Amino acid sequence: MFGLNAAKKAAAVAAATAAAATTALLAAPTAAAAPQPIVGGTTTTTSAYPFVMQITDASQNQFCGGTLVSPTKVVTAAHCMVGETTSSVRVVGGRTYLNGTNGTVSRVSKIWMHPSYTDVSNGDDVAVLTLSTSMPYTPAKYVSSSQTSVYAAGTTARILGWGDTSENGSASNQLRTATVPTVSDSSCASSYGSGFVRSDMVCAGKTSGGVDTCQGDSGGPLLIGGVLAGITSWGEGCAQAGYPGIYTRLTTFSSLVTTQVNS
Ligand code: ARG
Repeated sequence: MFGLNAAKKAAAVAAATAAAATTALLAAPTAAAAPQPIVGGTTTTTSAYPFVMQITDASQNQFCGGTLVSPTKVVTAAHCMVGETTSSVRVVGGRTYLNGTNGTVSRVSKIWMHPSYTDVSNGDDVAVLTLSTSMPYTPAKYVSSSQTSVYAAGTTARILGWGDTSENGSASNQLRTATVPTVSDSSCASSYGSGFVRSDMVCAGKTSGGVDTCQGDSGGPLLIGGVLAGITSWGEGCAQAGYPGIYTRLTTFSSLVTTQVNS
């Protein structure tokens, strides 16, 4: 899905290698900083962002992110839950490192996926998990349905996750974060055509690329002003110039999420 051709893949790998070599040489003042993930960010902790959850399999292997919005409710992406059951999934809070054993592990008693979800390119990429064990961490606030102005183009948004640190790369053992500007709907539509569903999606990323979520970050938060405003959903490759990341436009689904949170 959303693959690159071989030449572009090779170019991405070459660019990453060159950047890493430049850093190793402690280089010239004009040298650009090497891309660091998510793609292009810095390490952080679940102490700094206590509502960021690992979504894992039954063996606690992380495959998606999620956001704690009440002690027993986690918002994630519907596409993360395809093929999953309440017995196949766990939610892990308070664990900064993928190879950690600390924090709180909860089973899931209910998986609600948007009933219209079919594929990320059709929107509706939202799910709410109900936890069997309460998480002793401060939940995030999330946008209300009326707060549509939060996505104004150029607004700084924060992304978080354990996903790949470069396209076709590998996961980050430590939680990472970066900031990216929101992108106008018209600009995103010109990148993605009919794959960009304005009502259900919002784009964020630098025009020049280099900073983005990537595989394994899905389901995790896009925060605007510290409030959950999007869910990592999809994109063409990762951190490519002209192809910002696509996030679930949470204002559209806020009322549905609240119904689940209160259920
Ligand atoms: N679909 C990916 C996942 O399941 C997230 C990809 C985000 N891509 C991007 N270019 N922002 O983890």
